[in-house]
Amino acid sequence: MATILLAGGAGYIGSHTAVALLNAGYDVVIADNFANSSPEAVRRVERITGKQVRLYEADCRDNARLAQIFRENSIDAVIHFAGLKAVGESVAYPVRYYRNNIDTTLSLLETMADAGVKRILFSSSATVYGEENPIPYLETMPRGVCTNPYGWTKAMMEQIFEDAAKADPSLSVVLLRYFNPIGAHPSGLIGEDPQGIPNNLMPYVTQVAIGKRECLTVFGNDYDTKDGTCGRDYIHVMDLAEGHLKAIGYILQHSGVEVFNLGTGTPVSVKELVETFEAVNGVQIRRIYGGRRAGDLPEYYANADKALAMLGWKTERSLADACRDAWNWQKQNPNGYRGVET
Ligand code: NAD
Ligand code: WQD
Repeated sequence: MATILLAGGAGYIGSHTAVALLNAGYDVVIADNFANSSPEAVRRVERITGKQVRLYEADCRDNARLAQIFRENSIDAVIHFAGLKAVGESVAYPVRYYRNNIDTTLSLLETMADAGVKRILFSSSATVYGEENPIPYLETMPRGVCTNPYGWTKAMMEQIFEDAAKADPSLSVVLLRYFNPIGAHPSGLIGEDPQGIPNNLMPYVTQVAIGKRECLTVFGNDYDTKDGTCGRDYIHVMDLAEGHLKAIGYILQHSGVEVFNLGTGTPVSVKELVETFEAVNGVQIRRIYGGRRAGDLPEYYANADKALAMLGWKTERSLADACRDAWNWQKQNPNGYRGVET
């Protein structure tokens, strides 16, 4: 079975993808500098699967370290999760975001070329559709004007991959545009572990539920949407992980560049998400309605037909499943991976 290098694989999406790959029989190597994660996540992945991961503490901007990883392992494909992802922080520290996100991509491409590794999946984002494209988003639409430096790093990295693959037709690239990943592995052993005050909706909700935050502020209820709150395409992180599994199967058989949306194809409002969380888990989420958050679009969601047609993948889990699994993870790990012996 093939060996897959997960750059940034100790993080939220990487750890769930590692579980899916290991369960399918792939060998997994993880390179992560733990900028936003913990080695404990990788130990938990091993616990869930009963399989071993080869873990390197490595900055993916360090070509020498990456070259060593490629020398010590026979890597068939890379999944590039490594990056900084907090939108607000990217506005405050744009240079840090451009430096980290672009450099990890360049270093991976350089060292892959030296090592003769020809296949890479990239964690892109629905944010690259920008503000102008009509919904639902289709892969054939042009990348738009991004609303923040984080989004621009994703758009620029997509361009870098496309140019690299044009120059070297033996390089195969799959750009995966994630919509809004939520939830956790049903074991509750791995999940999303934000540092400080969560930016994203679901971790904020679970922290209100457990009493770490007093109250959720719903950012705007005067949008032109079904209930006035914003609509997003929330995808269970295990569905997303299985999308990577299908994409790995695809890239091991095909060459060229492909782009896939990974989403459910259905928008859910903030109000619906919070009410589903309450109903499924039997907890109350204190909330107030506040003003709109700068940069938020009223509603966006995926057209997910291409992934179904070409990868044979679609989401299987419901919003209720994601709410249950997110709460299970939060309850079992009130402080995330922190305070755990590693
Ligand atoms: P995460 O922060 O949990 O995972 C990213 C991982 O990359 C972390 O483990 C971090 O320590 C590591 N990392 C960062 N810089 C690194 C470097 N220079 N060298 C080595 N490791 C480095 O985030 P996530 O939610 O798992 O996201 C994974 C990828 O998917 C990111 O590229 C993110 O931008 C992208 N993405 C995430 C979402 C989302 O909402 N979570 C949506 C779309 C795209
Ligand atoms: C979801 C909805 C908020 C927090 C971000 C990035 C995007 C992608 C996924 C990486 C919005 C509302 C939120 C709160 C709220 N990441 N909300 N109160 O902004 O859709 O997408 O993560 O690529 O690029 O922008 O996700 O979870 O922050 O917000 O009302 O305390 O929840 O207004 O409508 P978003 P989110």
